[in-house]
Amino acid sequence: TAGPVVLGIESSCDETGAGLVRNGHLLGHAVASSMDEHARFGGVVPEIAARAHVHALGPVVRRALDEAGLRLGDIGAVAVTTGPGLSGALQVGLAGAKGLAYALGVPLYGVHHLAGHVAADTLEHGPLPDPCVVLIVSGGHTSLLLVRDLARDPVAHLGDTLDDAAGECFDKVARVFGLPYPGGPAVDRAARAGSPDAVAFPRPLTGPGDDPYAFSFSGLKTAAARWAEGHRGRELPVADGAAALQEAVADVLTRKAVAACTAHGVTTLVVVGGVAANSRVRALAEERCRAAGITLRVPPLGLCTDNGAMIAAVGDLLVRAGAPPAPLDVSVDPSAPL
Ligand code: KG4
Ligand code: ZN
Repeated sequence: TAGPVVLGIESSCDETGAGLVRNGHLLGHAVASSMDEHARFGGVVPEIAARAHVHALGPVVRRALDEAGLRLGDIGAVAVTTGPGLSGALQVGLAGAKGLAYALGVPLYGVHHLAGHVAADTLEHGPLPDPCVVLIVSGGHTSLLLVRDLARDPVAHLGDTLDDAAGECFDKVARVFGLPYPGGPAVDRAARAGSPDAVAFPRPLTGPGDDPYAFSFSGLKTAAARWAEGHRGRELPVADGAAALQEAVADVLTRKAVAACTAHGVTTLVVVGGVAANSRVRALAEERCRAAGITLRVPPLGLCTDNGAMIAAVGDLLVRAGAPPAPLDVSVDPSAPL
């Protein structure tokens, strides 16, 4: 059935996003980032992120509407991230969403941040096949999911990271390597000039007795730090370290994702989240999916990292599935499980 224009608002971390979606189609979106304000602290500072959302939310909604050629009154439903994420940051987005929904007299939908990442791909490649395997790899999460119907069924977790997220591993090792924040894109850039075989970093949890879908990246982080320490007093071959680290992360992620597809008879793998932007993760996923007869779907870069369009995409699915709206006293759930 045809649905209303859904405004999606995302504010779980350092990106303020607004997106407009109708019937599975992206009409417009805009993102503002407070990344630069966190750079000198080497990580996202919750209080700074929350204040930046207060600053950015109005203008970001305005820009999304302008891009879509729509007006405030055209919005027929509001979807907002309620968790997981930084509590103060989430509350700014939720307060804004509530105000808009109340003033416009339209329903409000609370959206799980990871469901948003999954749905991002539908805006580029259409509805997700049922079932599909989704690998979510971001600064906060590393999960393998079995997804059926996003609007109706809970997503089944096949495996998660036992410690650090893949993006966190990139961010922390980048710091040790003296690369700028955020580390993921910096490692990706540095790796271009390096050799992936230069350092033999471990492939955690890939042994015969290990959980096939669980991840662990803290050991890799430690191995990279120890390798860097071993060069004390000499110049660190950062490009080689970056290429080898990136190869280890990409190898483990894609190996497990393809194994999950094969074990569950699934022929579509979707890779989403900020780390899906990594060039080696993308290339290796393509290579291994092709070899296994799996269709790989990766949303475009702008929809891979946090944005409001992906939240609107879930809201759009919920509205059209007839899901009940959230009450106006709904709270954030910073540590929401999927
Ligand atoms: O999805 P996202 O924007 O935010 C959440 O964490 O939810 O993901 C951000 C993460 C950061 O850790 C960042 O370093 C990583 O994604 N990232 C990358 C690349 N671009 C972003 N990691 C590796 N290679 C990249 N090209
Ligand atoms: Zn995210």
